[in-house]
Amino acid sequence: MKILDGKKLSNQIKDEIAVEVRQMKERGEKVPHLAAVLVGTDGASLTYVGSKVRSCERIGFESTLIHLPEDTTETYLLAKVAELNANPDIDGYIVQLPLPRHIDEEKVLMAVHPDKDVDGFHPTNFGKMALDMESFVPATPYGIMEMLRRNGVETSGKHTVVIGRSHIVGRPISILMSQKAEAGNATVTLTHSRTKDMKSLTLQADIIVSALGVPGFLTADMVKEDVVIIDVGITRVPDASRERGYYIAGDVDFEGVSKKASYITPVPGGVGPMTIAMLLKNTLLARERHNAKN
Ligand code: GUN
Repeated sequence: MKILDGKKLSNQIKDEIAVEVRQMKERGEKVPHLAAVLVGTDGASLTYVGSKVRSCERIGFESTLIHLPEDTTETYLLAKVAELNANPDIDGYIVQLPLPRHIDEEKVLMAVHPDKDVDGFHPTNFGKMALDMESFVPATPYGIMEMLRRNGVETSGKHTVVIGRSHIVGRPISILMSQKAEAGNATVTLTHSRTKDMKSLTLQADIIVSALGVPGFLTADMVKEDVVIIDVGITRVPDASRERGYYIAGDVDFEGVSKKASYITPVPGGVGPMTIAMLLKNTLLARERHNAKN
């Protein structure tokens, strides 16, 4: 069994990006600038956005955090998005999800200019991705693909079972892994809450990508020997004995499943850190595309 160490790999990718940033500086070029919009005080979102901004600093990117109060109106947020679209200094930006319930998420994501949409959530980018065209690929599935590629995990002809059909992970990873490309060429089954007899499907899987958000959902009796496990779950489980008051749990019963798996991602330290690295990679790409245009 081999642990797919996302922390180590993400640091390697960040180091590679930092080298490119230094070269940009030496050539007298502007360095990439990522902005993040955060609305409200959701604990997990604060952590993620803080981590994204700190990573920018570490690799030499410029970053801007726009933190708006919970009661921000949709109109105000859309005006901020329009400002970011028009600001030539910003290469790419993200609007952290989830947004407060009084704001129409789809409307906001549609307003992000596709050239600055480093999350890859705009229909233009998502559509291009689905059609094998160059685009910004959403960071979490992009991170999973990079992890499979760089660890030499064979995916061609393998049966991949994806658990969860979210727009951010399940749907895009099912598209990417079925594509005719490296870390692709898999036969993909996309399962969800209406799937009948999940276990009969996971038992057939060579690779399982679980993006459900239910701690310990995937147990050893649900997988076959030598399965490859990608655990995308990041759930905060309340735990008074810990200083923070919670611990982070994945979808997979690591203890049991790791005994059967050929490769497995830990939680934390697996897919999570890769997401940030690939967001930075997309921002670098955005900068390079802007440079090429100017
Ligand atoms: N919320 C959870 N994951 C993500 C992500 O990748 N991007 C944004 N913007 N919000 C998220």
